[in-house]
Amino acid sequence: MQKKILVTGGCGFIGSHTIALLIEKGYDVVSLDNFSNSHKEALKGLEKLTGRTIANLEVNLCDRLETMKAITEAAPFDAVIHFAAYKSVGESMAKPFMYYQNNIPSVINIAEAAVRNGIQHFIFSSSCTVYGDAEVIPVTENTPIGNALSPYGLTKITAEAQLTDVNKRYKWFKPTFLRYFNPAGAHESALIGEASRRPSTNLVPIICEVVAGKREKLAVFGDDYQTRDGSCIRDYVHVMDLAEAHISALELSLIQESKTDIESFNLGIGEGVSVLEAISAFEQVTGKKVNYAIGEKRPGDVAAIFADYSKAAKVLNWKPKRTIEDIMETAWKWEQVRW
Ligand code: UFG
Repeated sequence: MQKKILVTGGCGFIGSHTIALLIEKGYDVVSLDNFSNSHKEALKGLEKLTGRTIANLEVNLCDRLETMKAITEAAPFDAVIHFAAYKSVGESMAKPFMYYQNNIPSVINIAEAAVRNGIQHFIFSSSCTVYGDAEVIPVTENTPIGNALSPYGLTKITAEAQLTDVNKRYKWFKPTFLRYFNPAGAHESALIGEASRRPSTNLVPIICEVVAGKREKLAVFGDDYQTRDGSCIRDYVHVMDLAEAHISALELSLIQESKTDIESFNLGIGEGVSVLEAISAFEQVTGKKVNYAIGEKRPGDVAAIFADYSKAAKVLNWKPKRTIEDIMETAWKWEQVRW
């Protein structure tokens, strides 16, 4: 029988790309999104892409009763994939209460709704930020959870801890933590892509906006880090590779019904790319110059972090297929048509 999956944040960046793939793989999908940081056009893009009408529950996950009612009415579901959250590190530094008040109650309420409705499988959008400023890189899932470097990071660490506690009480309830490195790029069709309501603070969308003339200049945050060219090193992973990892994690959880241990997976490409290398990858792929200047270091940035994804490779049989060039090519294609 067709499995029915609830995707919160279904109109957001990774959520919309994961829905596209879930539908392609034959799942019945219900999106949950109140468009607080996304656009209704994402549903239209998904409908064009998949040829299906996508059901969406317009629910505020911070409202417990509203969440409980909506999920109970739309149930049964075989699984929940929980993306909905605020995600900007810098914004969280400026507005910590906003991050705590949104990211924490929403995960608690959706987890409670899952438990009350007997939904066993729960895939949670986590982040490499849970490792803090790791002493040894690449980081594995055994790297200790670090001190949070931002309120955003603290919400991810807290949510993982809370879901772990819930699993101790309700042993059948099975969360999986997917720890993303730097998600970027867009669907090859350019029918969906990243389109938060608030200005982006991430490198790849900013590069695209500068080249599109929507911003004047990119500031490279520091060029005297202890890295090969002095700029920060990150692990940029294509959003469609992430979508594929979600399907693999979901399928593993669905197959292993009786196994209730919590699993965590690092999702990155396992290679670091510096900010200056990212700029030159963009220039090489698109033939366009990026107007940039070296600026001040950004508080909270670590010099370098990248993934050891060998656990995901072994257990999920997942391998990222797309490169930094694919990221730049699809992000630029999307930038030119985005709503
Ligand atoms: N950068 C610039 N200029 C900009 C924007 C970014 O030089 O205008 C640099 C940053 O210093 C960093 C790199 O580009 O070295 C990537 O920065 P992003 O803001 O795109 O991403 P972060 O690495 O800060 O954040 C990512 C994820 C978060 C996650 C965090 C953990 O987006 O979800 O990594 O480190 F929590």
